[in-house]
Amino acid sequence: MTRRVVVGLSGASGAAIGVRAVELLNALGAETHVVVSRAGERTLAAEVGPDAVLRLKAAAARWHAIDDVGAAIASGSFPTAGMIVAPCSMRSLGAIAACLADNLLTRAADVHLKERRPLVLIARETPLHLGHLRAMTAATEAGAIVAPPVPAFYLKPASVADIVDQVARRAIDLLRAFDPTAAEWRGGEDAPPRGA
Ligand SMILES: Cc1cc2nc3c(=O)[nH]c(=O)nc-3n(C[C@H](O)[C@H](O)[C@H](O)COP(=O)(O)O)c2cc1C
Repeated sequence: MTRRVVVGLSGASGAAIGVRAVELLNALGAETHVVVSRAGERTLAAEVGPDAVLRLKAAAARWHAIDDVGAAIASGSFPTAGMIVAPCSMRSLGAIAACLADNLLTRAADVHLKERRPLVLIARETPLHLGHLRAMTAATEAGAIVAPPVPAFYLKPASVADIVDQVARRAIDLLRAFDPTAAEWRGGEDAPPRGA
C-alpha cells in the first residue's frame, strides 16, 4: 500500500493539529503532501507562530499551492492512503459536502471521496447551526469521517499539547493505514500511551 498521505489545513481554529499530524506521519514514514488554504495560513500564523507556514513547508515531503488545481493530488490517478483535513473549517466542510472542488484542498478531498479512499475531517466550529450539521451529514453520506477535535477527557490530558497530539493521532489511526498510535482506554487500568 502507498504511504502517501494528504494533509489539508483550512482556516478553522486548531492549526496545531494539522502541524502535529504532519510531524507524526513523517515519523511513521509517510510521504506527506500538504496543502494550506489562505485562511489556514492566517490561523497558522496566529495560533502557532509567525514562522509556522515556513516550518510546515520544510516539514512537508511535498507542498502544494492552494490554487494549483493541476497538482498531482488533484487527480485520482495519483494513489494515496488517504487524506486528513485538520482543522476543517465550516467553509471547507460545506464546499466538500457540496462537491465544490473550488481549490486544491477541496478538490483533493473530492478526489478521495470519489476514489473511495479515507477522508478524515477534523471539523471545528462551535456552536453549530443546522447548515453545519447538514454539511456534516452530507459529507458523511459521501464517505467522509467527520471527527471534531474533541478532547479525550478520560485520558486526563495534562496540556493543550496533549490534546493536540491525541486528536492528531486519532485522525491518523482513522485512515487505517498504519498501526494505531493513539493512547487507548484500558478500562481504567494504567497503561503507557502508545507512541509515547
Ligand atoms: C483566528 C481565526 C479562527 C477561526 N476559527 C474558525 C473555526 O474554528 N471554524 C470555522 O469554520 N471558521 C473559522 N474561522 C473563519 C475561517 O477562517 C473563514 O471562514 C475562512 O473563509 C475559511 O476558509 P477556508 O475553508 O478556505 O480555509 C476562523 C478565522 C480566524 C482568522
